[in-house]
Amino acid sequence: MRVPIIAGNWKMNKTPKEARELAAAMKDRLLAITAAERVLCPPFIDLSAVYDVVAGTDIGLGAQNLYPEKSGAYTGEVSPAMLKELCQYVILGHSERRGYFGESDEFINRKVKSALSYGLTPIVCVGENLEQNERGETGSFVSGQVCGVLAGLAAEDVLKLVVAYEPIWAIGTGRAATAEGANQVIGGVVRATIAELYGAAIADQVRIQYGGSMNAANAAELLRQPDIDGGLIGGAALKADDFIAIVQAAADVRGAR
Ligand code: PGA
Repeated sequence: MRVPIIAGNWKMNKTPKEARELAAAMKDRLLAITAAERVLCPPFIDLSAVYDVVAGTDIGLGAQNLYPEKSGAYTGEVSPAMLKELCQYVILGHSERRGYFGESDEFINRKVKSALSYGLTPIVCVGENLEQNERGETGSFVSGQVCGVLAGLAAEDVLKLVVAYEPIWAIGTGRAATAEGANQVIGGVVRATIAELYGAAIADQVRIQYGGSMNAANAAELLRQPDIDGGLIGGAALKADDFIAIVQAAADVRGAR
């Protein structure tokens, strides 16, 4: 049974003081919902503040990026060794990093390997844009991304990571994929590609999230789909009540299975 995982991607929002307040506003209610893994991913500069709130609990803490070297002359970058002191997770290959900062599957693959070598759990993002979707290229494109970001990984490493399927046209638009549509890509493309690479027994164990305008109103329907194992939440993760409602929906769905 795959444990659902809900991660809040705070993107470039919240000062350290605000981040501490938001985490504190969520903490007790998150702790009360134990049937889902819940992860907060604030900006780098907020990690210490949120760590102070969640340390010693089973609320996960994640970063939104890393640079795949241990240390050195990489001005402005943050290494997995640094993250490891505070975090258990790291979002890698988000479409905003791919789009605005030119990150390739190859570079993301280096980051995935680096994160794994430090014991961090990568949440690796894939997803097509609107034109690709409309041209019917979703399957081939997303499958290619999955192959690219997982290249050279052993099966035991693939079991340690989480994949997030985030169609770019659904991110921040208020227009989520339909539950059936998201499930179709997650099961029929992402999990199927992992099965081709590593076999069905491995693919069955890998957790795959949906992301893109998931919110308190649509979460239950998305999370009820058999191949959707959680969510990567942007806008709704910045509101305590909404994020808690999504985590609760994940826990309820699991309870009902
Ligand atoms: P959204 O963002 O929930 O605001 O659409 C999701 C994401 O980019 O991870």
